[in-house]
Amino acid sequence: MSKTKILLPVIIIALIIVGFFYYFGYRKNQTNTNSTSQLDSNNINESETNPPTGFDKTKYSIDEPGSIWWIVNKNRPLPDGYVPSDLIVPDVKLRLGSNAEQMQFSKTAEPALIEMFKAATTDGITLVFGSGYRSYDLQKQFYDSYVAQDGQEAADRYSARPGTSEHQTGLSFDATSVGENCHLEICWENTPEGQWVKNNSYKYGFVVRYPNGKESITGYQYEPWHLRYVGVELATELQTTGQTMEEFFGIN
Ligand code: DAL
Ligand code: ZN
Repeated sequence: MSKTKILLPVIIIALIIVGFFYYFGYRKNQTNTNSTSQLDSNNINESETNPPTGFDKTKYSIDEPGSIWWIVNKNRPLPDGYVPSDLIVPDVKLRLGSNAEQMQFSKTAEPALIEMFKAATTDGITLVFGSGYRSYDLQKQFYDSYVAQDGQEAADRYSARPGTSEHQTGLSFDATSVGENCHLEICWENTPEGQWVKNNSYKYGFVVRYPNGKESITGYQYEPWHLRYVGVELATELQTTGQTMEEFFGIN
C-alpha cells in the first residue's frame, strides 16, 4: 500500500474528529451564550416588572423640621423657638373653643385628620380632637404642673420637657371621646373610640406614637390616645411591623 493510500483515510478521520469537536464545541458556546442572554433578559424583565419592593426610608427626612417623618423625642429636641409655619384650626370636632392654642394642627396633616374622623363617624364612632399643637410655653406650663404634682421622675415618663414635645411639631394630637371618658388614661384603649383608633388610624396616616411595652425605646409610658401623623405609607409599615419610629429608622 502506497503512503498516499494510508495517509488519506488518516487525514479524513482526523478531519472528521476535528470537525466533530469543533461543531459540538461551537454548539456548546452558542447554548451558553443563549442561556446567558436569556438569563440577562430574564433579569431585565424581572427588574422591569418587579422593581425592588424595599421601603424607601429616605423618602422624607427624619431630621428636617416640618417633615412628616421628622422624629422628635427626648434625644432629638425641636430647634429653639420652633413654631410650625402652617398651623390652622382643624375642621373636626374640638374639645376646647377654637381660640385655644391647643386646638391647632398642621395644615399638612389636616386632610388626613378630617378623613379619619369621618371614617370613624361612618363606623359609629365620634372622635374628638383633644389637644394638638402646643407651644414651648404651653408645654412648659403642663410639664411644670405635672412635676409639681407627681415629681420630676414620674412626670418625665408621661410628659415631655418643653422643647421636646411632639405636640410642638403640630403633627401630633391627643384623641379623646365625647364626655371625655378615660381622657388621657390607659383605660381609653378599651373604649370604642380607643379600639377604633388602635385598629384604624394607620389607614389615614396616624400612628399611636407611644405604644404599650415600648417605654424603654420611646421614653414614655403607653399613650393609646397620642397620635402622630406620618402618612399612610409609614403608618402602615409601623402598624404591620409593630415598630416605633425609633426602631424602624434605627435611631435613639
Ligand atoms: N405626653 C407626651 C409625651 C407629651 O407631653 O408630648
Ligand atoms: Zn399627646
